[in-house]
Amino acid sequence: MGMGKENDGGDFKLVGFSNFVRTNPKSDRFGVRRFHHVEFWCGDATNTARRFSWGLGMPLIAKSNLSTGNLIHASYLLRSGDLQFLFTAPYSPSIAAAAANQTTDCSSAAIPTFDRAAFLSFSTSHGLAVRAIAVEVEDAELAFVTSVAHGAKPSSRPIFLDNRVVIAEVRLYGDVVLRYVSYKSPAVSDEFLPGFEPVAESFPLDFGIRRLDHAVGNVPELGPAVSYVKGFTGFHEFAEFTSEDVGTSESGLNSVVLSNNDETVLIPMNEPVYGTKRKSQIQTYLEHNEGAGVQHLALVSEDIFRTLREMRSRSGVGGFEFMPSPPPTYYKNLRHRAAEVLTEEQMKECQELGILVDRDDQGTLLQIFTKPVGDRPTIFIEIIQRVGCMMKDEEGKLYQKGGCGGFGKGNFSELFKSIEEYEKTLEAKQAAGSATA
Ligand SMILES: [Fe+2]
Repeated sequence: MGMGKENDGGDFKLVGFSNFVRTNPKSDRFGVRRFHHVEFWCGDATNTARRFSWGLGMPLIAKSNLSTGNLIHASYLLRSGDLQFLFTAPYSPSIAAAAANQTTDCSSAAIPTFDRAAFLSFSTSHGLAVRAIAVEVEDAELAFVTSVAHGAKPSSRPIFLDNRVVIAEVRLYGDVVLRYVSYKSPAVSDEFLPGFEPVAESFPLDFGIRRLDHAVGNVPELGPAVSYVKGFTGFHEFAEFTSEDVGTSESGLNSVVLSNNDETVLIPMNEPVYGTKRKSQIQTYLEHNEGAGVQHLALVSEDIFRTLREMRSRSGVGGFEFMPSPPPTYYKNLRHRAAEVLTEEQMKECQELGILVDRDDQGTLLQIFTKPVGDRPTIFIEIIQRVGCMMKDEEGKLYQKGGCGGFGKGNFSELFKSIEEYEKTLEAKQAAGSATA
């Protein structure tokens, strides 16, 4: 592949993308390691956690609830590989208040930043939604102080847990917080946070999901949101733009991806584009979520075919449902787009499972989206597998470059094109049918 990119193998032109040279200024303002966990605030944590466990193949690993002495909130942790989902719901306020009056000691909450008033307004506005994107940093106290000095709105000052772990929070967008977590001494193997107890009797589940790749937010206006987050984190813009690149009328969104130095923490943000034929899906989200929030979480599978077979077999029995699969014309075109990356066998499997394929100048992305996971047309999940971009680190160990294959931008046009083509084939069939009738 050459330096710039005139097109993506298809016949549409990537205006504004052609001169983009991917650079990494390594401009983080503090040491950022990786995504640590994602916390959902829900009305009932037991049921929400069980549903995600079953639907995604993530066993229940740890808990903090009445049985562990937490009178404030119930929290359940699911884990698959490095991916950690935390589900939290409040207990009775009178129980919590009585406990608070009896003890001079601080609260029994394992997540010390949990706040009942904040929960109530959050839950009323957003329904089931992500409250916190947590990243492991070298020093959460330093990350917090540095962030606030560079314009971050504080949400919770640094709190020491058990003298070993520090948690602090700043506002990310809407009511979502960016949570910094750091360990003073190396974490005890498999430990999540102090105050959580392991769940021994957990049902063994594993569909091949391994980590969080990116956590995407929808915001009303991209410009201020991006400069705010960029300003306090020092994160750089990853090479992905969509406004003119894709053709706004098809996607209805503009998007920017922000990344840390190591490109292990990817936080794209979208804004709606107005005046298009169909209403922007981002606008729909913003209305139903009552403002900015997490739109989707992209989970990396080590074997997307296996993950999809497992997930699809549970779609109708408590798992997650998927968006409608693309028409056959999409897969016909795919044979031209991805012939040197995917075998015929793999393309057949993509078609069977409804997996989309996109490429950038560096690698290939296999992706598929669930329907919204809860009541509202808001948050959904993406399952991905990235192919290519294998690099060697200083010790000669192989690793995959972050964001390899992009984020699926090309699929907007590909889907649009293939649906149009497919509709034409149907019209042709109908015409032939009525001629012979
Ligand atoms: Fe995504």
